[in-house]
Amino acid sequence: MAKLIINDKEVELEDGARIVDAIEEMGVPIGCSNGVCGTCEVEILEGMENLPEMNDEERDLGMEGNRRLGCQLTITSGTVKLTY
Ligand code: FES
Repeated sequence: MAKLIINDKEVELEDGARIVDAIEEMGVPIGCSNGVCGTCEVEILEGMENLPEMNDEERDLGMEGNRRLGCQLTITSGTVKLTY
């Protein structure tokens, strides 16, 4: 199991799960869910190594460093802590 932590909330997810539904329930605003609008931008505080490489949609919207598009992410395993 993997663990996602947003501010004071945490949830367990299956290894390899997309996180978009969980982060929406935890308060992150979600728009298109397809990597187009940028609404779901989050800052990864811990666990970047448990996320996939940045994809073209993220690069096209200017994500860099710890800034990622929440709707594009899966959590491979371990713990990821983020804020928005
Ligand atoms: S919800 Fe639109 S880019 Fe993620």
